[in-house]
Amino acid sequence: MVAVNKTLDPKNQSSALAAAKETRHFQLIEKTYQNNTNSDYTEQLTELGNEFSYASNSNYYWGVPELSLLYGTPLYQAASTTQKLALNHLYWVGNYNHTAVSEATTSIYNTITAGVFRAVGGYETLCDELEFETKQESYHIRTFQRIGFKTKMGIVGKTILGNSLYGRLDKDSNHWFKLLIPQPVREFFISTQGSSPFSLHRDNVLSALAKTMLRDKKQYYSPYLQGLEEKGEPIPAPADGLGGRIAARYWLRFFAIHWGMSPFMACQYYSLRYTANAILKNQEYPYVRYFRELEQKGEYIPTPTAVSYYHLLDEAFHTTISQTIARDMYKDFSKPTAYEKFISGLMIYKMQRNLLSGLSGVIPGRCVYDDPMLMLFYYKLLKSPLFGMETKEALNWMEKCFCQEHEGYHVGLKYHQNLLELMRRLFSRLDYQWSINREMGIMAAGGSISKALSRNAKTFRQFSQSVMAQES
Ligand SMILES: [Fe+2]
Ligand SMILES: [Fe+2]
Repeated sequence: MVAVNKTLDPKNQSSALAAAKETRHFQLIEKTYQNNTNSDYTEQLTELGNEFSYASNSNYYWGVPELSLLYGTPLYQAASTTQKLALNHLYWVGNYNHTAVSEATTSIYNTITAGVFRAVGGYETLCDELEFETKQESYHIRTFQRIGFKTKMGIVGKTILGNSLYGRLDKDSNHWFKLLIPQPVREFFISTQGSSPFSLHRDNVLSALAKTMLRDKKQYYSPYLQGLEEKGEPIPAPADGLGGRIAARYWLRFFAIHWGMSPFMACQYYSLRYTANAILKNQEYPYVRYFRELEQKGEYIPTPTAVSYYHLLDEAFHTTISQTIARDMYKDFSKPTAYEKFISGLMIYKMQRNLLSGLSGVIPGRCVYDDPMLMLFYYKLLKSPLFGMETKEALNWMEKCFCQEHEGYHVGLKYHQNLLELMRRLFSRLDYQWSINREMGIMAAGGSISKALSRNAKTFRQFSQSVMAQES
């Protein structure tokens, strides 16, 4: 394998670069950039977003019925046609809300890592591609948000499906915290903005640790991170989307310094980005198949189905780029140090544990156990005008959906297995990774209906007790 920068000698570097440009992955990056800029579906997506009206699309399925909230549950069997359609639409909205947040995060990390590749030199086309992708994401995000908002208003109006109940529970737990811990100690540890003396101190220590361990790579330090530092601003870290689920924000800031300093780590980031690409593809591809079926039959194609179709066409290039950097391009650089291997292992381990370690019975394709936030969402949905249930009735149905085996769990398992295969396709080839990450061991162990049922039963018991306590 050709090494662009295995030595830091500039003379060796330029000849290594010339040789590196002959490699398969360099050519693939060139070709992907050409194809992506030539095809680019952002204009079509923007138009679809602007012209979308929920009323004109509400009588159609936007994807196969199994891509619906609550699909395969006893409640789904009992639902009316209007409710089933709404559950199909809300699945689309939930999926793309999540995608919008994840793509906003991706845009930041694209910028951070492109800075490193520019500093290395010789990767101009790749950097142009990453900038182009970031621009595409901004159009994608706007389209998803437009459709999402109009759909939500069309189905449940102004009903808030957020987490107000948990806001109240949090306050209760803070109350106990206040009684137990003296005020000066509390102020040191807690701040609603994440800027308590303790958290600032922790961020500084982690940042110093990363920079010390990567000190021989400081010449590649991302200008974006440098700029934030000069302005005294923190590195943006999402609290939501895929990134927000992977790890706490201070971990993400810590990881971002690695991605923005070491060429190897900048490449390693793309194995995480590939995970986001694979999760999206696993759910988006069935919409593409559905689009083609409708097209062949000459039937009406709902606007959101078309959005999924064109989005996947753009994203296919992003996936190729993630895969190429993560699987091949990292070999252009010096082999990872023991420290870099450790951090890479830790990151993917955390990602598996927090993003892929379970199975949902009520959202096909979601590979985590159903948590209290999701239960709260369903509780509010069942009480919204769409179902109009009373508290007891809603909780009874929820128990059947979360705690009893039904077809939804089996559909979820099918999506889990597909995703596991996609993940192993990349991670099994990363020789620097921990074996539990190469095999996706945590994810594989989470693909069990019996485990999901017992976890969900426990979570639901606590959830329903807290609802009943608030109601009484
Ligand atoms: Fe996108
Ligand atoms: Fe993308």
